[in-house]
Amino acid sequence: MDEPTTPRTAVVTGAARGIGAALARRLGAAGLQVAVLDLDAEAGEPVVSELRDAGVRALSLGADVSDEDAVAAAVARCADELGPPTVLVNNAGIIRDNLLFRMSTGDWDAVMGVHLRGAFLMTRACQAFMVQERWGRIVSVSSISAQGNHGQANYSAAKAGLEGMTRTLALELGPFGVTANAIAPGYIETDMIRQTAERVGEPYDQFVARIAEGVPVRRMGRPDDIAAAVEYFVGDDAGFVTGQTLVVAGGLTSA
Ligand SMILES: NC(=O)c1ccc[n+]([C@@H]2O[C@H](COP(=O)([O-])OP(=O)(O)OC[C@H]3O[C@@H](n4cnc5c(N)ncnc54)[C@H](O)[C@@H]3O)[C@@H](O)[C@H]2O)c1
Repeated sequence: MDEPTTPRTAVVTGAARGIGAALARRLGAAGLQVAVLDLDAEAGEPVVSELRDAGVRALSLGADVSDEDAVAAAVARCADELGPPTVLVNNAGIIRDNLLFRMSTGDWDAVMGVHLRGAFLMTRACQAFMVQERWGRIVSVSSISAQGNHGQANYSAAKAGLEGMTRTLALELGPFGVTANAIAPGYIETDMIRQTAERVGEPYDQFVARIAEGVPVRRMGRPDDIAAAVEYFVGDDAGFVTGQTLVVAGGLTSA
């Protein structure tokens, strides 16, 4: 399809830090306008300032992705103040790890709520604009933990669910020029990995070195490794690629 005359608008959830912040920077550098959505708008402001300093039109949106009304309000504000959100990256995530027999119902619900319900609500709200524009890109951040991982019954179920939802979105939205894909990162150095190191009771540097040793390319991933893959999926050149999960994990296939 022809390049748009006005820049496209991307919404990146969980973009105040970690992988999401790298995605926001990368999409901004690629010429998109970027809505930085996170739990509170203040947390996203440093990323928004950085984007604006780089000449990118950006907006900070505060919303819990699992809250239907908050999602509707945030997506409407994005459309009013930046433009129709035709690129959505479902990246917001949390972990509440525990072995199954110790996992509380609250731990299960919280993880399902953010990853799965959150991606559903965000996608349902944004697809209306994509269908109207007859163009859209949805990318959901899954994990190699979707294949199963100790202590992550909730998280692996949510991520596997995201991959299944992605395949259905590809079928339903393909006729409208909208693609849906997922990325399954391996171990990426962010606050989430610090939490994992704490859970297993290992000093962070030691944990990172041990993990890197087991990765075929012998290093941890960086947020920008994921951003590069997202940039590919949201580009015009990827219009024939949909319903896929790309593993970006340095050669690992499971956790
Ligand atoms: N770091 C890794 O090794 C790794 C590996 C595989 C997948 N992932 C996935 O990548 C994504 C980003 O992870 P990260 O490592 O950058 O984590 P992170 O903890 O550094 O950042 C997550 C961001 O999501 C936000 N967030 C959490 N709950 C939210 C909610 N309900 N509504 C809106 N925002 C919310 C947080 O405030 C935070 O800014 C997650 O989906 C995670 O599951 C991470």
